Amino acid sequence: MRIGVLTSGGDCPGLNAVIRSVVHRGTDVHGDEIIGIEDGFLGLIEGRSRPVSHDDVTGLLTLGGTILGSARVKRERIEWAVENAPTLARNLGIDALIAIGGEGTLTAAKMFSEAGLPVVGVPKTIDNDIDATDVTFGFDTAVHVATEAIDRLKTTAESHQRVMVVELMGRHTGWITLTAGMAGGAHGILIPEKPFDIEAVARMVEDRFERGKKFAIIAVAEGAAPAEGTMRFDHGAVDQYGHQTFGGIGTRLAHELEDLLGKEARPVILGHTQRGGTPTSQDRVLATRFGWHAVEAVHKGAFGHFTALRRSEIELVPIAEAVTRLKTVPADRWAESEAIL
Ligand code: F6P
Repeated sequence: MRIGVLTSGGDCPGLNAVIRSVVHRGTDVHGDEIIGIEDGFLGLIEGRSRPVSHDDVTGLLTLGGTILGSARVKRERIEWAVENAPTLARNLGIDALIAIGGEGTLTAAKMFSEAGLPVVGVPKTIDNDIDATDVTFGFDTAVHVATEAIDRLKTTAESHQRVMVVELMGRHTGWITLTAGMAGGAHGILIPEKPFDIEAVARMVEDRFERGKKFAIIAVAEGAAPAEGTMRFDHGAVDQYGHQTFGGIGTRLAHELEDLLGKEARPVILGHTQRGGTPTSQDRVLATRFGWHAVEAVHKGAFGHFTALRRSEIELVPIAEAVTRLKTVPADRWAESEAIL
């Protein structure tokens, strides 16, 4: 078979490991030809592709990013592509497609599949917010990077008796922040699933200093928000040099805590460092298993399904189950951390 493979949406560590695994399983075992489609659905629309051989994937297991490139594509273009799906597949000469991506990609994969393009999905996101799979690859690496950052911030925070506010990725869900916050022993953890009260955050810091602790670390997800009307610096703040800032929640929170407590506070925005670099061993293995099962799914004709990890096993699950809702952190899960505020 000629199997197209694309990576779409924000990149994440482990994408290359899936591509490598698809090539190994497809070419070595089934005699498939693997066609790499460039820049996600953009390449499908624009007919940009290249064969990917065994040699092309040498060394990919440990390499972050994606050799195929990735892009976020506007919904109107996807809808156009769905209407023209059979023609686009014919132009590329592919019999089936493996689409590796997050919620947006899997939604598009479902639409293509319903339009007659045989697609198997592979879930990826550092955010771990895709439903119907226990975990996605990329998440473990992001947590690892974030945990190391929290560990490192402790020594500098203590030296200067400061509050460090580390902002982690997660627009809609707090999986990275809760997990890295727990692993790194953050003193306050703020996630989108639970609107926080700035007074409670300030009290936690004050209590620590009163007990003789010399610093505090707060891990905040980029999508975390205060309960309405509880923060004064909702529209920007003035930094220590007197400059107006319009940062995200981490920056605003640090400024407001400094103002409330009269203690030095610094925001640290980890941003895309959480998505870069080599995947952890756990992510490499999960990505490799997903690639293996995606090829098998194509040969079984399990189109419209995606590879999901469930209780250590990989299952093929209808894509609809992955895209109906985002997997948020349930209350009984975040309640396990004393640091949740
Ligand atoms: O979905 C993955 C993610 O890294 C989010 O955590 C983050 O909010 C977003 O992508 C950033 O997107 P971009 O790379 O387009 O800035």
